[in-house]
Amino acid sequence: MTGGQDSSGHDCHGGKVRALEFFSGIGAFAQTACAFNIEVVAAFDQSESANATYALNYGLQPCARNLDTIAAGGLPHAAIWWMSPPCTPFSIRGKRLDDCDPRAASFLNLIDIASRRLPEAIIVENVAGFVGSRVSIRFLAVLKDCGYQLHEFDLCPTAFGVPMRRPRHFVAAVRGTRRLNVQSFPGAAWQPLAHFLDTVYNPELIVDAAVMERYQQGFDIVDPIHDDSYLTCFTSGYWRCRKASGSLISLPGGGARRVSPDEIVRLLGFAADFTFPDKLDLPTRYRLAGNSVDVRAVRFLLESIGCKAMRC
Ligand SMILES: C[S@@+](CC[C@H](N)C(=O)[O-])C[C@H]1O[C@@H](n2cnc3c(N)ncnc32)[C@H](O)[C@@H]1O
Repeated sequence: MTGGQDSSGHDCHGGKVRALEFFSGIGAFAQTACAFNIEVVAAFDQSESANATYALNYGLQPCARNLDTIAAGGLPHAAIWWMSPPCTPFSIRGKRLDDCDPRAASFLNLIDIASRRLPEAIIVENVAGFVGSRVSIRFLAVLKDCGYQLHEFDLCPTAFGVPMRRPRHFVAAVRGTRRLNVQSFPGAAWQPLAHFLDTVYNPELIVDAAVMERYQQGFDIVDPIHDDSYLTCFTSGYWRCRKASGSLISLPGGGARRVSPDEIVRLLGFAADFTFPDKLDLPTRYRLAGNSVDVRAVRFLLESIGCKAMRC
């Protein structure tokens, strides 16, 4: 393989900017990158079901290595690093053990490798609880020491007119000839929830009447008939959790149903042809969809590090 620089001096290969997608899951970054002049040359995730979904949709088999211990030598050269490390060490739903949580080890390892490999651009996604954490403070300090220009963003699908609250924190950092291009939000028109929902749904999604009665108070039940209705963030445990893990849809005859994994990825902005492997059961699909990232936010972040969309 021969590498080179594009007309703006950015690291590229075969006319495309090379990128690595760490903690790739179902590939919100790969889903977005195809609309840019970006080639994901390697993806990394230790989940077999995530990797099967990624390979099916993007034709690239992610590396199943544990990122806690991967070494710099195990990473191909790339200009852009996308990272969505586990949010459990920082989530207000968890114990917030921060850098003492073993699930933070992979990101800490990658911060160390990044400080030696110095990719042109790094983007990190996490929950709001990441802000001010010891891991975040260390990450920002390393970026500054290494000469990166950086900007932090709080983005939510609602800012793009999508009826779903899913606030996330992002850090975008660039160095060398690459410059940050921090834009204000496009101010997209609001899209009614009904546009994202299937008219025919799997009866398995209907919440059992006994469960409804027992946990009714804890459920956020949304009626899509109202144009201003919106859903609240789906967690990876939406299938098994009884409350506070994501909104339910009220049914015309009474009762409620869960939002399907396909509807969740649609709300996240994945393309209509995105699909889960047939072999994956419903709880696994929920876990994968609930872990993923808003594609419009990824697009916004790529534009903010100077990448140009080729098509919408
Ligand atoms: C927040 S999700 C990222 C989702 C992804 N950005 C997407 O678009 O779907 C975190 C992912 O990191 C993976 N992961 C967590 N710890 C890991 C580790 N130590 N090594 C490799 N992958 C890991 C999980 O399997 C999970 O898919």
